Amino acid sequence: MSDPVFSRLSSGRAPVPSQIDTSVPSIARVYDYLLGGKDHYEADRQSCRTMLEAVPETPLLAKANRAFLRRAVRYLVGEAGVRQLVDIGSGLPTAGNVHEVAQRIDPEVRVLYTDNDPIVLAHGRALLPADETTGLIQADLRDPDAIFDDPETRRLIDPDQPFAVLLGGILMHLEAEEDPDGVAARIRDRLPSGGYLMASNTCDTGEPHARDLARAFAEGGMGSNCFRTREQQLHYFDGLELIEPGLVPNNQWRPDEDFPDPQNPAHALHIGAIGRKP
Ligand SMILES: C[S@@+](CC[C@H](N)C(=O)[O-])C[C@H]1O[C@@H](n2cnc3c(N)ncnc32)[C@H](O)[C@@H]1O
Repeated sequence: MSDPVFSRLSSGRAPVPSQIDTSVPSIARVYDYLLGGKDHYEADRQSCRTMLEAVPETPLLAKANRAFLRRAVRYLVGEAGVRQLVDIGSGLPTAGNVHEVAQRIDPEVRVLYTDNDPIVLAHGRALLPADETTGLIQADLRDPDAIFDDPETRRLIDPDQPFAVLLGGILMHLEAEEDPDGVAARIRDRLPSGGYLMASNTCDTGEPHARDLARAFAEGGMGSNCFRTREQQLHYFDGLELIEPGLVPNNQWRPDEDFPDPQNPAHALHIGAIGRKP
């Protein structure tokens, strides 16, 4: 079932793809549902039910991931002094978008959003500003060069000045043959000295919960969610200096806001870190 509402927006900007299939679950819409948002359809909710049966803490993990993203942005802009952010796999606009968190600290911070899901583009173009500080493109993580060489990226991001790339909950959606290590390496290559890479992903803790959730994700029809070990994920940061406390469960990375159920052992299933290029 397509949704013609999204075929063209009144903003006068480029038309968005007219065929958004709402009968097939989308990672972005499922994540929105887990976060308590409103942009989802029955297929997405059915996928969530499958995951919830496997691991009831799945919404807690999604919220912890989003909270880590907000803290990472506050660290990067507020403490590290970064003024340019590239958010790859940005997801549907939701409360506490990256540009809102960043520009609350400094309105001049530039933010380039990108996602490969057309629904993110449709909602983003309707809800996000497209101005001198903020932009949105449809692009795929598997082709980082296309992201960095896009005219919109070049408009917003000066590649010679430090910038940070945010990979919140996205590398885990690449299969081994899609070479997540190589993709991360190509992104690191693009960072100038003083640039940052943030990544958060589901983690194979060796416990049945991890396998159950990975299986439920696949059975839910959203493609892959590859649970990799912490040691495997450390390679995403090869050659970078890890910012303290390193690669840890999302809720343990410099917690600075009240968060429900911080002691829940399920938090070990989603880990994140920030690395700095020397
Ligand atoms: C779990 S959401 C994370 C959203 C946000 N980054 C966060 O951490 O809150 C993952 C997002 O990555 C997007 N995504 C998945 N695979 C992608 C790919 N190969 N290229 C670009 N975006 C992708 C999905 O559409 C979805 O919006």
